[in-house]
Amino acid sequence: FNKQYENILTARPEPGVALVTLNRPKALNALNSALFAELNEALRLIDADKEIGAIVITGSERAFAAGADIKEMKDKSFAEVYTDQFLADWQDLTSIRKPIIAAVSGYALGGGCELALMADILLAAPSAQFGQPEVNIGTITGGGGSQRLARAVGKSRAMELTLTGRMWSAQDAVAWGMASRVVEAGDAADGVLPVVREAVALAREIAAKSQVAVQAQKEAVNVAFEQGLSEGLRTERRLFHMTFATADQKEGMAAFAEKRKPNFTNS
Ligand code: HXC
Repeated sequence: FNKQYENILTARPEPGVALVTLNRPKALNALNSALFAELNEALRLIDADKEIGAIVITGSERAFAAGADIKEMKDKSFAEVYTDQFLADWQDLTSIRKPIIAAVSGYALGGGCELALMADILLAAPSAQFGQPEVNIGTITGGGGSQRLARAVGKSRAMELTLTGRMWSAQDAVAWGMASRVVEAGDAADGVLPVVREAVALAREIAAKSQVAVQAQKEAVNVAFEQGLSEGLRTERRLFHMTFATADQKEGMAAFAEKRKPNFTNS
């Protein structure tokens, strides 16, 4: 995945961690089809890379992403967007098995907010501004905003936010349960935003665990957003049982009993 892309940058900032940076700064990282195709390709390669255990997606200091590219889509006809399944490939991101952390600084609007909501963990810089302003340009959320925002912040807030198109702050995102926490601005001596540094550290911590357990845990939590409680509990229990077929469960529990650190082999 460490190749040259036009609209994103990819890096391996720490062992086990892939960092993907949206990189159309002049357009505030507006998400056009080319960018999403590159993002999907990079994520597919990262997911297949045995050396990587967790992924960070970020943007620039000013904008995580200011939405789907309005200039690209403004003249499309209904027939075109319908038959081409316009933006259906955004869904690809949700089939990535490894945990994805969104490190959001600045604007996360429209599709940018929806992209952040697709991540497994959301960390926000104090400057983060979220919004679903589609209603202001005569359309509606199309990348899962209506579903994921409602699940994250509740019906009344999701309605108020999407019907007014108003922005909300990093603090609100945390208070409402949409983001884990605000990462305060520290000194950015190395040019890395504190929220990105923190997301990479978190990714590294996750990447050091048994990857079988990590992926099963992600799958189990995601079931809470897809199935009812009894089905979800059954799936979780089956996945829990499944870990007993892994060497990492034997090693992890033996290490605890022997009072030593586990040596996971991802098997
Ligand atoms: C295309 C965009 C863009 C976008 C910004 N730009 N957002 N281009 N699509 N979504 C471009 C601007 O045209 C401008 O290009 C440059 O980025 C800088 O933006 P400015 O507007 O000059 O900056 P500023 O005045 O600071 O305002 C920032 C802003 C504003 C508040 C974020 O740009 C804005 O409102 N953007 C649109 C936000 C939005 O409506 N997003 C939702 C899109 S719909 P030039 O060439 O003029 O310098 C959507 C659908 C979701 O996302 C469905 C998806 C599945």
